[in-house]
Amino acid sequence: LPSMGRVIVLRMGHRFFRDSRVTTHVCLTARALGADGVIIADREDKTVESTIREVARRFGGDFSIESGKPWRKTIRDWADAGGRVVHLTAYGLRLPDVIQEINETDGDILVVVGSEKMPGEVFKLAHWNVSVTNQPMSEVAALAIFLDWHQKHRAFEKIFPNGEIRIIPSRDQKKTQQLS
Ligand SMILES: C[S@@+](CC[C@H](N)C(=O)[O-])C[C@H]1O[C@@H](n2cnc3c(N)ncnc32)[C@H](O)[C@@H]1O
Repeated sequence: LPSMGRVIVLRMGHRFFRDSRVTTHVCLTARALGADGVIIADREDKTVESTIREVARRFGGDFSIESGKPWRKTIRDWADAGGRVVHLTAYGLRLPDVIQEINETDGDILVVVGSEKMPGEVFKLAHWNVSVTNQPMSEVAALAIFLDWHQKHRAFEKIFPNGEIRIIPSRDQKKTQQLS
């Protein structure tokens, strides 16, 4: 994989219960596509946390998941520690126009995605407001495409150590290998 700093996704606007499935998909997608963890802002959700921990335990790799941290403090602390902040939004600069600049920074990256309504302040706090097309779409899809570009389409190369189970790619069946 290209050398990358840490990538953490900040999931904003999570509504308990209503958003559980989409937030879970944000986490699964982040993990599968090589991010190091997700922070669910403002609202604690132990159910999503334990679902994701269980997947990470079974399928391996290091992935952090936490919930309930205030969004503004999370972004400020991240920037104070020298990290960079990418806010995914249909209103931002086009991904192809900024990805090179983003990939050239050494710092860790916080990727912010919203749910329903985003506070305008996020646009100011972000180092880059980035659009994945200038059409409204799903945060899961936007996150997937951003991470794919960020790591230059090399998600398949990532190794997930210490899992219990590994999927064996197959043409015609569900095949797995039990590792422990
Ligand atoms: C379903 S959208 C709702 C956005 C909300 N209506 C607003 O204007 O703030 C949820 C999240 O998906 C992401 N998103 C949606 N479309 C996007 C796009 N074209 N490019 C990048 N991110 C996008 C943003 O992070 C957004 O907060």
